[in-house]
Amino acid sequence: MRAGECPTFHDLYGRRSEFTAAAPGRVNLIGEHTDYNGGFVLPTVIPQRTTVELARRPDRLVWAWSASIAEAAAEYHLGSEAREGRWVDYVQGITSVLAAAGHALGGVDIRIDSSVPLGSGLSSSAALEIALLRALRSAFNLEIADVPLARLGQRAENEFVGAPCGIMDQMACSLAEDREALFLDTRTLQFDRVRLPPGAELVVVNSGVSHRVAGGDYATRRRECEAAARLLGVPQLRDVPVAGLDETIAALPETLRRRVRHVVTEDQRVLDAVQAMRAGDLARLGDLFYLSHASMRDDYQVSIPEIDLLVDLARDDPRVHGARLTGGGFGGSIVALVDTGAGRDVGGRVAREYHARTGRPATVLVPPSVG
Ligand code: GLA
Repeated sequence: MRAGECPTFHDLYGRRSEFTAAAPGRVNLIGEHTDYNGGFVLPTVIPQRTTVELARRPDRLVWAWSASIAEAAAEYHLGSEAREGRWVDYVQGITSVLAAAGHALGGVDIRIDSSVPLGSGLSSSAALEIALLRALRSAFNLEIADVPLARLGQRAENEFVGAPCGIMDQMACSLAEDREALFLDTRTLQFDRVRLPPGAELVVVNSGVSHRVAGGDYATRRRECEAAARLLGVPQLRDVPVAGLDETIAALPETLRRRVRHVVTEDQRVLDAVQAMRAGDLARLGDLFYLSHASMRDDYQVSIPEIDLLVDLARDDPRVHGARLTGGGFGGSIVALVDTGAGRDVGGRVAREYHARTGRPATVLVPPSVG
């Protein structure tokens, strides 16, 4: 290895890897904070991905190294997984839930590399979970289909890492495909694939403000939704009809009223967005993006000024049909729907103006930069 170069698997472990698997990051088109309420989501994949290389060991040790983290390889014993509060928890979480589900593993050496930026709201953690699960599935001939694989990823995150996320990210990373959105019912896990309308492409711009699902705000929103569902006497907010919503929520405290309004109208927007996509109605789809953003900003209160600015800068461009915060919020990225062929230009302009106004660098992740 030359100085400044990233070590290869061979540099790290003195032998070749035996299995390689990858999983993409995801961008959610619409349907935010609906998954843990049993509702609908519409994510698709981004070109950035996480790759896991591994080789089996004759013992029960796991060695893991990540190119995204400037740290020495981490080491633990299978069966002795214990949360450390750092990146290797994702790896430990996966081996721990696999064992709990009755899958037999042996020791492994692991090298992780990822182009999904951490904290960008584009599911770097689910991409890692799914890539690692795929690599382990091949290495140990585990019989796990793609939907249960997603559930295992979520379980690792909920039960081991301690992030109370829903199922959207893992389902998207495990099942979504390029230029198609995964229209997912998060209660039944039934899904349909919906083509992006011709004439439009996606732009994703990262605000550079890092977001963390394990942070307290996400968990607070989740608790608020659960409290509101209890007060309304329904199992989940998915069960609140959009018709007559104002009357249904009239007696709730103000904050809960806002939360319910977001979730219930957002579920409806997903259904409307799917219809608009199927009809090729870009104007309608774009409007739904803007409405979703306003609802996340005003009712769900998960946006931040930097993200609002990115959305407003996108809105100023006539080639943009719609834009919104994507992912959990409190930072992260926006997704915009723009005329085909204009993505690079729109993204570049938005990022430049954002930088001029905030002094922060924004990164255009989709379309990816060439070379
Ligand atoms: C994060 C979580 C998802 C989902 C989104 C918000 O990405 O991991 O489960 O709740 O936030 O839509």
